[in-house]
Amino acid sequence: MRMAIIGTGYVGTVTGACFAELGHQVVCADVDAKRIKMLNEGRTPFFEHGIEPLIKANMEEGRLSFVADNKVAVKDADVIFICVGTPPLPNGKPDLKPLEQAIKDIAEGMTGYTLVVERSTLPIKTGDWLIETLSKGVSKGVEFDVAAVPQFLREGHAVQDFMEPSRIIIGANTERAQNILTTLHKPLNAPILLTDINSAELIKHATNAFLAMKISFINSLAQLCEKTDANIDAISKGMSLDKRISSDYLQAGVGYGGIFFPKDIASLVSIADEYHLQFDLIKAVDTVNRYQRIHFVEKIETALDGNLRGKTVCIWGLAYRPHTDDMRDAPSITIIRSLQKRGAKIRAFDPLAIENTRKILPDIDYFDSPFEAAQNADAIAVLTNWSELEQINFMQLKEATTCRLIVDGRNLYPRQRLLDLGFDYICIGKKPAKASEKSPMTV
Ligand SMILES: NC(=O)c1ccc[n+]([C@@H]2O[C@H](COP(=O)([O-])OP(=O)(O)OC[C@H]3O[C@@H](n4cnc5c(N)ncnc54)[C@H](O)[C@@H]3O)[C@@H](O)[C@H]2O)c1
Repeated sequence: MRMAIIGTGYVGTVTGACFAELGHQVVCADVDAKRIKMLNEGRTPFFEHGIEPLIKANMEEGRLSFVADNKVAVKDADVIFICVGTPPLPNGKPDLKPLEQAIKDIAEGMTGYTLVVERSTLPIKTGDWLIETLSKGVSKGVEFDVAAVPQFLREGHAVQDFMEPSRIIIGANTERAQNILTTLHKPLNAPILLTDINSAELIKHATNAFLAMKISFINSLAQLCEKTDANIDAISKGMSLDKRISSDYLQAGVGYGGIFFPKDIASLVSIADEYHLQFDLIKAVDTVNRYQRIHFVEKIETALDGNLRGKTVCIWGLAYRPHTDDMRDAPSITIIRSLQKRGAKIRAFDPLAIENTRKILPDIDYFDSPFEAAQNADAIAVLTNWSELEQINFMQLKEATTCRLIVDGRNLYPRQRLLDLGFDYICIGKKPAKASEKSPMTV
């Protein structure tokens, strides 16, 4: 099939490269000419495991190309995937200007029957608007269908998530569109749900809101555990053993980050507002998440005698999740700013995200090694569950620094071992443990 991908961010680049890998003829377009130049050189403006070799191989095979002109990309396309960004506006609604611009180009560029697919996360009923706008914009006689196939990839696992999806949601209102999209996705061997466009749009928002709700749920319980001397890891495990509740997104921590959960929740709430629905449950998800970051700062402050002025905090992990350098709305940003406001000096380590963090937080000290970052620190605060940090050699750490306080925002370590090694250990949803008062708990 001849395909056009509009927008070469995370989603567009992965979608384009993966469809090319499946044997389709793919042209990707973006308004950002610099980005297109980079992609034509086989480089991506973000880190994602496995994407660059995929791009290079498919460009060499002649199946994948990049252009800085939407109209050129869509001219001969059978299927167009719209993957432009939908950044949040201050009122919580997504900014649809990039979409409006893209649709104008698409309408002008289409020459024959084309299937136009929403891949970006768009509010329910955007499909109706697309149909209306395209009807007015296309040349006489040009037929089209509109569909929605939302993207469920996780940054850091994007290629794998595309190639081995848990399900494909196809929102299409005509048989022709359903057939094209079913054929296109068949090689992925995943269950396909055929539905209408409105439902497909809402499934994406509902999925992200539900996953975020699980995180905020377990974090609320973690606060209760801290007050009652229960253990959140045991609660989480005990709940996960119930087959109706999966263990995914049920780990207590510093809360979710990245642009997508907050943005999609705000968008869902704004849609509900439009229909005069309260949606208090979803609003609370965001409130809990914001509080969790501040709660973590308060834990560090309390552990450092209630005063951060003149103290040095070492941050291990800046990215909101492992295997990405995406720093958009990472919890580390709020936490570091709050620590600085309270007078702390920050030293930070991250395996991938230092360069991007430097643009947002230029006034902290960055280190390529967790041990160097920990030197002369009063506390080490763990914010990302990088495997490098999970497997840290605490004997080596003991030699590298005099710091003996670990505040773990991801519950990575067996607390008894840390206590045995002489570290004080504070994590989420468990009683703080001092090396001098050995705890009987083993989890
Ligand atoms: N990144 C993820 O993990 C993820 C996962 C699922 C869904 N999504 C959704 O997919 C969409 C895209 O996300 P992303 O992370 O790729 O965004 P992004 O901001 O990384 O990239 C968007 C790209 O669109 C380009 N663009 C903007 N206007 C354009 C236009 N008129 N024509 C052509 N290109 C244009 C921008 O230059 C940019 O390169 C969003 O709606 C997002 O919510 C993202």
